Amino acid sequence: MKLIIINGPNLNLLGKREPEIYGSSTFEDYFRELQLKFKTVELSYFQSNIEGEIIDKLHEVGFSFDGIILNAAAYTHTSVGIGDAVKGIETPVVEIHISNIHAREDFRHKSYIAANAKGVLFGFGLKGYELAIESFL
Ligand code: DQA
Repeated sequence: MKLIIINGPNLNLLGKREPEIYGSSTFEDYFRELQLKFKTVELSYFQSNIEGEIIDKLHEVGFSFDGIILNAAAYTHTSVGIGDAVKGIETPVVEIHISNIHAREDFRHKSYIAANAKGVLFGFGLKGYELAIESFL
């Protein structure tokens, strides 16, 4: 089982950025825990602050991987391009958010990804990534 986690803008700052919302561990530390927990899964991780790089990565993995776990962060709410990429690839995508986007500002309630996602997880903190992996197993 080949899965990839794709994180969008500002998620490289996890651990430092608004810890009251996003928690205090870095994604790299959490990713190592995930690798140990899901030893049978071939798990990779990609992060970019650049919309086009996220689209390129979706194209690159979207016809060969078994699943994509996508936290497009702020681009979720703005990017028709990422939404179209999710629609255009074959690999199923689980959309994920660390925070409960529906308990936050109105602009975070809109997703350009959800309509073409296999499922959406939000509000479970980093644990949501684990739940997303489990959804593919
Ligand atoms: C986020 C929620 C987005 O609204 C926000 O822009 C992020 C992170 C989350 O994981 O909760 O950067 O996707």
